[in-house]
Amino acid sequence: MFGAMGALGLAPAAVATPATAFTPPNPSDFTLSGRSARTVLVLGAGIAGLTTAYELGKAGYRVTLLEGRGRPGGRNWTVRGGDTETDLNGETQRVRFADGQYMNAGPGRIPQHHVTMDYCRELGVPLEPFVNQNANALLYYTGDTAVSNQAVTHRAAKADVYGYVSELLAKATDAGALDGELSADDRESLIEFLRDFGDLGNSTGDDAAANLYLGGSGRRGYDVAPGAGLQSGTVSPAPALGDVIASGIGREFSFEFGWDQAVMMLQPVGGMDRIAYALERAVGPAKIRYGATVTGIRTTPTGADVDYTDAAGVPHTATADFVVNTIPPHLAARIPHNLGPAVTTALQAPRPGATGKIGLEYSRRWWEEDRRIYGGITNTDLDLSHIWYPSSGFHGSSGVVVGYYNYGQDALDYAALPHSARRSRAVVNGAKIHGDVYGRDITSSFSVSWSATRFSEGGWVGWADQEGPDYRTLLAPQGNVYFAGDHLSHAIAWQHGAMTSARAAVTALHERVMTS
Ligand code: ALA
Repeated sequence: MFGAMGALGLAPAAVATPATAFTPPNPSDFTLSGRSARTVLVLGAGIAGLTTAYELGKAGYRVTLLEGRGRPGGRNWTVRGGDTETDLNGETQRVRFADGQYMNAGPGRIPQHHVTMDYCRELGVPLEPFVNQNANALLYYTGDTAVSNQAVTHRAAKADVYGYVSELLAKATDAGALDGELSADDRESLIEFLRDFGDLGNSTGDDAAANLYLGGSGRRGYDVAPGAGLQSGTVSPAPALGDVIASGIGREFSFEFGWDQAVMMLQPVGGMDRIAYALERAVGPAKIRYGATVTGIRTTPTGADVDYTDAAGVPHTATADFVVNTIPPHLAARIPHNLGPAVTTALQAPRPGATGKIGLEYSRRWWEEDRRIYGGITNTDLDLSHIWYPSSGFHGSSGVVVGYYNYGQDALDYAALPHSARRSRAVVNGAKIHGDVYGRDITSSFSVSWSATRFSEGGWVGWADQEGPDYRTLLAPQGNVYFAGDHLSHAIAWQHGAMTSARAAVTALHERVMTS
């Protein structure tokens, strides 16, 4: 009734219609039907594989997962002290972060509307805010304007960009440039909005300045902050309009409007892998064969066979009624199978992209103590792209800053370096933004290059076409083999994509079992 009232405008409408309404298979589905739950081999114990196993397991399907790594989660990977990782360049890093410190090497933030939130609730994974946007975090863009090659606060950049864009639009409106578009009343309303939105005419309030951005109200920050008694504060002066526009410092603001990036966002308390381990617990760890590398997949008249080698290199063949293959497509394309050449072509179609991060552990939380940055992200066109400050542990004795989070060629450039050189390069570039403090008090570090990480060989994939035959081939079962993963969703590079794709495969498989 509430939903109907919402549709009639009599109650708040739902946030969004779920793209994938989902009813998990239920043991009662089999009661009286004469059917029984079948056996399923799930390839990969990342988020898609774990979700598949978890949902099928609810109805009594007998599920076995084969996972190449020695842990659950796949790209959902939280790096902690004591972990070791050998990359495809042959370098082994041993993580030396202090107890309680970690870096989410893969996913690090969850939007409120993702089904990831539902699994956290269902599995009892505690959440805390993830600071995706912080007025005190910084922007740094190279160039030849008065605001280039220096750190600017997100707060100041936003005030200046909104201010000057509002000024230009207000002036154009006032000069009659939009008379063909707007009635006289609309023009007044627009200018009234822009004066507020851009903080126009705020210094003098006289008519001549009414449509000018004067940068004077404190929105952009203070050189001397307001204080007690007569201390009203000294506003830091705004740079000129031309410099602000030409510098490009406004280019990051659309990010915070994004469907998947808008605040509020969340993270599991203690690390993103809390989700992976909660799913592992719910599935039953005994059902997961770790260290299992899949070497062959065959659909058969009665089910499917999967060849794999175990951690000791011993070959095995497992058989089940069905297979759900969640191995990244570019890796699955290399595994011999009998599903036909169209499947290989389809698996080769999405291309993996490079991405990487470095965790810099500091013995002093200088970004909080010296800069008043409590979480959030600094954005730059330097090759480190993004610096993430920890969203928790405020005022603690140490903390891990993500010193770069980059993609594409920048990520490949870092991937080609040994860890020590990645770290030096990250520190040199970070010091351009933060000064010498960036290179001091670093107690340990760890870097991940997803393109050089075994069982991933990329951060996430991109399709040229998510409507065409290749994509559709993988959406359909091939014999008794199903495919799932974030690459088969419109939420690529999100756990939500892996989870919704898993649910789609589970639904299709279960419907087939119930109707055949
Ligand atoms: N989902 C990934 C992120 O938020 C790409 O950075």
